[in-house]
Amino acid sequence: MPAMPLPAPELGEPYLLTPGPLTTAYAVKQAMLRDWGSWDDDFRAMTRALRSRLLALIGDGAETYDCVPIQGSGSYCVEAMLGSFVPRDGKVLVLANGAYGLRAAQTLDYLGRACHLLDKGDYLPPRGDEVAAILTDDPAITHVLAIHCETSSGILNPVEEIAQATRDAGRKLLIDSMSAFGALPLDPVALNCTAFVSSANKCIEGVPGFGFVIARKDEIEASKGNSHSLSLDVHAQWATMEKTGQWRFTPPTHVVAAFLKALDLHEAEGGVPARGARYTRNRDVIVQGMRDLGFETLLADRWLSPIIVTFFCPSDPNFTFPAFYDAMKARGFIIYPGKLTVVDSFRIGVIGQMDEHVMRRVVEAARDALTDMSVGSAAPPAAALEERKKLAA
Ligand SMILES: Cc1ncc(COP(=O)(O)O)c(C=O)c1O
Repeated sequence: MPAMPLPAPELGEPYLLTPGPLTTAYAVKQAMLRDWGSWDDDFRAMTRALRSRLLALIGDGAETYDCVPIQGSGSYCVEAMLGSFVPRDGKVLVLANGAYGLRAAQTLDYLGRACHLLDKGDYLPPRGDEVAAILTDDPAITHVLAIHCETSSGILNPVEEIAQATRDAGRKLLIDSMSAFGALPLDPVALNCTAFVSSANKCIEGVPGFGFVIARKDEIEASKGNSHSLSLDVHAQWATMEKTGQWRFTPPTHVVAAFLKALDLHEAEGGVPARGARYTRNRDVIVQGMRDLGFETLLADRWLSPIIVTFFCPSDPNFTFPAFYDAMKARGFIIYPGKLTVVDSFRIGVIGQMDEHVMRRVVEAARDALTDMSVGSAAPPAAALEERKKLAA
């Protein structure tokens, strides 16, 4: 039986069908109404709770890991993780199939760390056997960086087989789980993962302002002195938090307060499995509804994440993305442009404070938008379907 509908945004603002910032609960926003002194014991207790509650989400073996929050957006955490855990003479195999993998490679370039880039293009998944072959050929590689859900296409990458290949080759695994952690299971112990990152404004449904690195304690200790950067030094942030309970520099106090409320809601919903189930239902409803309208997804079902879905733009000459965007916004939904380089596409995120009832309204809005635009068919061009065969092949 479908659950009770979640309340609509209290101020009547549009739903954000964008995977962070995303639509948050009113209670999360309300938690930001009071001020907190960053040195005060009350706020230190909040920081402690934030760290231990995030660690609790990883389940068994959490005691061998620690959680280090870092001010800034998700990219700051990726940079902090790479700069802190990869020694200056290390080398990273970056598994890219979209914008965030490429950004990680660019980050390594800025940091002056050696990088072997496996670039699979817009969305093709990096596979375990490819990872194994590269690691055999290049003994200088010390770390492998995998993107859990590549948010630029919405593909759920095969982290288990990547982790297996990395472990078999005796290398260390780093994971960017920015858009997945909190809704999809991620067991760093089973994956033998050195560290992974995520941020406040993704599946835990907080507001933007900080991210967090969850890493093996022994790896954090061993990372002392690696970092190129004062403010993005995971070891230094951890050592200060351990000693004083404080963040090293001005913490995003209101964002932390909001995040603790978001964690309460996450727990009340039933934790990672329940959050993942709601998002999966959201995805299934939107994908089925849009397919019924004639839209096609970039990815076959096996690769579709319950985070964000890429749809091809219709080939009908009356369809333009800006007009579709405006028509959707007028109906209360902010959607996302696509990031594919070969064919036109758009994306619909399914994370945040929304449920299947909202998703059905999104489908209705898309149907009405097509009518407004006099688009007779939502079918994509033949080139898009040809492109899609690459993954099926
Ligand atoms: C997988 C992934 N990595 C990195 C980032 C970068 O995070 P931010 O835009 O918060 O810097 C994002 C953002 O959506 C992401 O989805």
